[in-house]
Amino acid sequence: MCGIVGYIGEGEKKEFLLSGLKELEYRGYDSAGIAVLKDGHITSYRTLGKLENLVHKTEAFSSDGFGLGIGHTRWATHGKPTEANAHPHRGEFSYVIHNGIIENYKEIKENLQKEGVKFLSQTDSEVIVHLFEKFIKEELSAQDAFKSTIEMLQGAYAILLVTKDEPETIFFAKNAVPLILGQNAKEEKFMSSSDSPLIGYATEVVYLEDGEYGWVKKDEISLFMNEKPVIPTFATLGRDKIYAQKDGFRFFMEKEIYEQSSVVSETLMGRISDEGVELDELKDIDFSDIDNIKICACGTSYHAGLTAAYLFERLSKIRCQVEIASEFRYKEPLLDKKTLFLVISQSGETADTLEALKMAKKANMKTLAICNVDNSSIVRLADATLLTRAGIEKGVASTKAFATQVITLWLLSLYMGKKTIPAKKMQSEIKALLHTPSVLHVEDNTHEKIRRLSKRYLHGHGFFFIGRDIFFPLALEGALKLKEISYLHAEGYPSGEMKHGPIALADSELFTVALMPQTMLYEKTKSNVEELSARDATILAISPKEFDLADDFIKTTEQSHPMSEFFEMMIITQILALEIAVRLGNDVDMPRNLAKSVTVE
Ligand code: F6R
Repeated sequence: MCGIVGYIGEGEKKEFLLSGLKELEYRGYDSAGIAVLKDGHITSYRTLGKLENLVHKTEAFSSDGFGLGIGHTRWATHGKPTEANAHPHRGEFSYVIHNGIIENYKEIKENLQKEGVKFLSQTDSEVIVHLFEKFIKEELSAQDAFKSTIEMLQGAYAILLVTKDEPETIFFAKNAVPLILGQNAKEEKFMSSSDSPLIGYATEVVYLEDGEYGWVKKDEISLFMNEKPVIPTFATLGRDKIYAQKDGFRFFMEKEIYEQSSVVSETLMGRISDEGVELDELKDIDFSDIDNIKICACGTSYHAGLTAAYLFERLSKIRCQVEIASEFRYKEPLLDKKTLFLVISQSGETADTLEALKMAKKANMKTLAICNVDNSSIVRLADATLLTRAGIEKGVASTKAFATQVITLWLLSLYMGKKTIPAKKMQSEIKALLHTPSVLHVEDNTHEKIRRLSKRYLHGHGFFFIGRDIFFPLALEGALKLKEISYLHAEGYPSGEMKHGPIALADSELFTVALMPQTMLYEKTKSNVEELSARDATILAISPKEFDLADDFIKTTEQSHPMSEFFEMMIITQILALEIAVRLGNDVDMPRNLAKSVTVE
């Protein structure tokens, strides 16, 4: 995941930029760069690989006295990891750094090329600086040029731009990717992707909202949303790194829930082109003889696998079975070389999953890992890996790892279905994939509604989370989240299966969380929920459609694709578990008896 820092002031710019990028190192990167604007002159350095290379390259450079600087670590998405693709990207008199994905960059690039603009990189980000300069050449002020540039961009972005045209200003914009502004009493201003680079430098910070943009000078921050000025609300920045790492959230789990929109953008980056899904990591694997997929995983990763099985059969038209790794190991499974063996693991170290992978390797099967940790045991062993790019997950109860696993598996199902999925269907799937980051944006009023509702669900004799199709694994995952951090009993069940036994438990103290998507088997699910309601079960319905029999109702937005409803409901179940656990006074990030990485069988 890319990282961004910026600085305005009298101090040594290089020092803050490099130490800030060091703090963001954990996000992962393959190149880095800085640009410093001082006395009307811009100096820029870019290097491939580790930050030490940039430190080395800038050894002789110093930048004391008033000036501006921007710095960036890049995780290759559009275009290979090369120095030319590293940020900052330059135009004739301006430099830009960008984190995110510009969805309409091709169109903008083509138009600019027609006007004679020469591009130096393969990135989507470079269009920003050329668009800006085009508007300047049309005689717009730097402020209007920046505003017009942002208006043309579709997608996710945190942007910092410096220009000789306005040598005392850093321009910024934020949408679906984090960006923080900071300041101190020494008339220094800072920008960063997260709190931790700012500790020890800034004393107060503003967490920008999606859609906000503006410019910063030594003694002024101008902030706008929808062309209207916004008064920035500063919060004191603590000096505690752990607190900083939580970015102002109460718990890592809560931060990770809110991060899902941006990490899913990272998962998608560079993997979608006009032709469809591109997975460079798989280009040397021949899938032509594969007629079956076997998924093995544990816990939340197993639920991601169950979701994927629907996608592989429905989209790729390949048979798919999913097994819990600890069961698979001892069942003397029949392994077949035409079966792709797919393991899913956040940590890459789960003992049962690793051992299952070893069995598949021994049977000479093609193996593929979906994993969040590069260089983990599972990644090293599998023939190929798709990294989920969720960043470090600290909360023991997995949230963003699950979201990125499902996204990666969805991408894989489209990749495997390249030859079978009709072009129109592929386009609508890709549209829905690209829409996911905005679905994952947490609305304040939704969180507040769930927080208020949570007080009614602290007792009772159990929870059933129910759903059909892909909403069944989501129900399993919702129940697991609740169990893990609230210590209340919860089960996930297919809605249509309740009458085959579990409905015997129904009474007013049985809480049913009903996942009722509009785009998938709504009427069928509704009948199942009505059966429970008729037996006096307490129903918390999650649906875009009003449901009269619900005791409590969380209204979701109208979506046109089931996966969009899936992700919106996923967030609601995560927040529900979180708020119930908070009310019960539990340790949300480190629930009792659980470990983040399960390296014993
Ligand atoms: C639940 C959770 C666990 C893990 C399981 C597998 O929130 O985190 O159920 O999903 O222990 O771990 P990984 O994915 O690291 O193999």
